[in-house]
Amino acid sequence: MQSKKKRFEMGIIIKTPEQIDGIRKSAKLAAASLDYIAPYIKPGVDTERLDNLINEFICDHGAISACKGYGDYPKYCCISPNNVVCHGIPSPTTILKEGDIVNIDVTTILNGYYGDTSRMYSVGQISQEAQNLIDATKHCLDLGIEQVRPKNTFGNIGFFIARYAQMKGYSVVWEFCGHGVGIEFHEEPQVDHIARRNSGPIMRPGMIFTIEPMINQGKARVDIDKNDGWTASTIDGKLSAQFEHTVLVTETGVEVLSDIHDEYPIR
Ligand code: MF3
Ligand code: CO
Ligand code: CO
Repeated sequence: MQSKKKRFEMGIIIKTPEQIDGIRKSAKLAAASLDYIAPYIKPGVDTERLDNLINEFICDHGAISACKGYGDYPKYCCISPNNVVCHGIPSPTTILKEGDIVNIDVTTILNGYYGDTSRMYSVGQISQEAQNLIDATKHCLDLGIEQVRPKNTFGNIGFFIARYAQMKGYSVVWEFCGHGVGIEFHEEPQVDHIARRNSGPIMRPGMIFTIEPMINQGKARVDIDKNDGWTASTIDGKLSAQFEHTVLVTETGVEVLSDIHDEYPIR
């Protein structure tokens, strides 16, 4: 019989310093591709063009996309505008227009190590409503990151994210979660963005996972496109936003591995 603690942490990989270094490099490259693509996001651009540009960028830097060939996923990254919650498939017929909001999610494999990050962009001028949703979603990610330290529970990430989102009148998507990442694309544990306080596994130094809240203006439920099997949209057609970082539990707190702007002081 294993202790309760052990049982809950089973399957969560503690990364070695060498692995951490590799995953950090991959995550920073994924983040750099999100910087690189920003000036191309303008009214009239199609999302397949953005996908190809991102792929060229990561290949030029010695990496490949983890998305292409993941199951039957056909493209290099996920591009999810407006009411698309996640897993939007880049397409020459998806053309961004003034006022759109869009998430781009890039996962790189560099020297065998996975890094996963996404952020929101606005296309030209966006509405105050859309901006408020983006700001709140970014704050949700920040609140999740703030919970990352040794001995805290994974449940507290979801608890503080959901409490804030709901206070702002938004809903939290529960059908997709964050995940362990680094050696594989999706590892243990599942990182819920809505959870009970003090629930779930315990964080230990060397754990690496994503936090990637998807926050909806309207209802939380999503609907998956029956034709492509991937595109997840809000059931009510309202807006959804998402930000994602790959984070490391350090001896004293957290390091945001996919941060390239020193937004998050290492503690
Ligand atoms: N990058 C996404 C995540 O954050 C997963 C995309 S899977 C794909 O977990 F196949 F759609 F690319
Ligand atoms: Co992810
Ligand atoms: Co991702």
